[in-house]
Amino acid sequence: MGELFAVLSGKGGTGKTSVCAGIATALAAEGKRVLCIDCDVGLRNLDISLGMSEAGGLSFLDVCSGGYPLEQAEKHPDYPTLSFLTAPMNCSTEQIDGIAFGDMLQQARNSFDYVFLDAPAGVDAGFRLVTGAADRFLLVTGAGPAAIRDAARVGDLLELAGKKNVRLVVNRVDRDMLSVVQLTIDDVMDTAGLPLIGVVLEDPNVTLAAAFGHPVLKYAKRCDASKAYKRIARRIQGFAEPMKLR
Ligand SMILES: Nc1ncnc2c1ncn2[C@@H]1O[C@H](COP(=O)(O)OP(=O)(O)OP(=O)(O)O)[C@@H](O)[C@H]1O
Ligand SMILES: [Mg+2]
Repeated sequence: MGELFAVLSGKGGTGKTSVCAGIATALAAEGKRVLCIDCDVGLRNLDISLGMSEAGGLSFLDVCSGGYPLEQAEKHPDYPTLSFLTAPMNCSTEQIDGIAFGDMLQQARNSFDYVFLDAPAGVDAGFRLVTGAADRFLLVTGAGPAAIRDAARVGDLLELAGKKNVRLVVNRVDRDMLSVVQLTIDDVMDTAGLPLIGVVLEDPNVTLAAAFGHPVLKYAKRCDASKAYKRIARRIQGFAEPMKLR
């Protein structure tokens, strides 16, 4: 039975989509069967971070409305065990039938080891759709005070909804601040009251890879971000990886 991860943040642009694509490709590189679903209805971009923007693949709505079987989800050109469903563009999240969405995910659990739901920013309809279905939660945040407050708030909302298995990913940590960063990350964990699953340094390869249409892991295998995504992928599988920054 596969595990279902929601990749979340309150504020936009924290790096949910990049983190989601990075971890998913790292797991697929290990031969795991992975399904990525872009849940950012109307504002999709997970296809870009996965290096699949050329593909005219199915949306999750095509599958949960019964029009197409899940097996027809687009396969990644470089990672044969990675499949992808994009977000529908011509509807709003409120129009998605939560029951049909849940049924699709139940089916996905039977066919994949890991399913990743890339959430839209914010804590409204998209947040509810994604959190309602998931077993595990990756809360992506920056290390600054505004990001910390935001992560804490989302953590509280998840707790109120009875959600367990929430882990923080601190993203875009500035390498010039490495000497003070440990303190900042401890602050994030204390303030948000949530355990850490990984730290990703600020790395220009994340944006460059997307610009060239490749997943970061393919574009720059040994860059800081790729190494961080691989370590998070190992921790997700239950391996004890040291909490290194580089
Ligand atoms: N570790 C990183 N280093 C440098 N740039 C990064 C890193 N992670 C993400 N970025 C850049 O930050 C921007 C936002 O990233 P991304 O789209 O993944 O965020 P998001 O949280 O999914 O945004 P949204 O809330 O709009 O969905 C992108 O330009 C991406 O390339
Ligand atoms: Mg995004």
